[in-house]
Amino acid sequence: MKKQELVDILLDNTKNDWLFKEADRVRRENVGDEVHLRGLIEFSNICKRQCKYCGLRSSNKEIERYRILKEEILLYAKKAVEMGYQTLVLQSGEDEYYDTDKMIEIIREIKKFDIALTLSIGEKTYEEFKAFKEAGVDRYLIRIETTDEKLYQEMHPNASFENRVQCLYNLKSLGFETGSGCLVGLPNQTIESLADDILFFKELDADMIGIGPFIPHEQTPLKDAPKGDFWLALKVMALTRINLPNINIPATTAMETLNPNGRIIALQSGANVVMPNVTSKEYRAKYEIYPGKICINENPEQCRGCIEAKIKSIGRTISQTKGFRNKLS
Ligand code: 5AD
Ligand code: FES
Repeated sequence: MKKQELVDILLDNTKNDWLFKEADRVRRENVGDEVHLRGLIEFSNICKRQCKYCGLRSSNKEIERYRILKEEILLYAKKAVEMGYQTLVLQSGEDEYYDTDKMIEIIREIKKFDIALTLSIGEKTYEEFKAFKEAGVDRYLIRIETTDEKLYQEMHPNASFENRVQCLYNLKSLGFETGSGCLVGLPNQTIESLADDILFFKELDADMIGIGPFIPHEQTPLKDAPKGDFWLALKVMALTRINLPNINIPATTAMETLNPNGRIIALQSGANVVMPNVTSKEYRAKYEIYPGKICINENPEQCRGCIEAKIKSIGRTISQTKGFRNKLS
């Protein structure tokens, strides 16, 4: 789609049902009825960055910080594999304790299991990405957050938009399955820029796109900003599916935070992936990117059971494969 068409659809709420059905059809025809589950390990909430919307920003002194060390990460990894996960996602703040050498030790151990591995640990140099790839990492996630450069600079003090874009192209050129995505509902974000976000995903040829509504966090400068709109986030996601038919799209946790049935609605509007947490309870509440995160009182077995039941209740199946991007279609 061209930019104007995207803008028109985003502005017009009279055809939302059509849009969600169309995205669901495109999903079914291109990636089928299987839902891929990715086991998520949030291994450190320590972050050197200052993203204005994020509860993990370094100047938030009120949250209790934690770091899960290698042996414990491997324990969760093993448990997740035993539960049937075929992909693990290691996510953290930008925590300098985990340098390339430490990450590679963890990667090597995890890759001894026959699973796909995704990293989501922030901006790194080309050389660092290359070292991760050589150690066996399959996928990497870095949301662009917004393609509106001015808004990007406002939201990310001391960060470079150009570097973020460069990271994504470096990941693609190194052969990672590359994931990106955006926030919907940031203060001063325009509908035009959301259309640009979708065009950016297309231009990058992203392999995975995660989209979630902005949720204000009490301990950030955006605490008084209005929250993002669930349905607008869903529309951006549906349009992403229609424009990038064969990619992997998660039903995000932030969507479920704003709508108790958010992940199922997302799975029926273009999404085909869910990322349940596989760490123990003690860490979940502390990884407070935004308030009201779901599953903070559940353990890995409960989440697995819960999400499997939900997926089956809408007639979809749990994938038994590693769930790489469906390149055939
Ligand atoms: N609301 C919703 N999503 C958020 N993220 C960070 N802070 C918030 C918030 N307040 C998202 C960002 C980041 C991902 C890990 O979490 O898009 O890339
Ligand atoms: Fe965690 Fe439902 S997925 S309780």
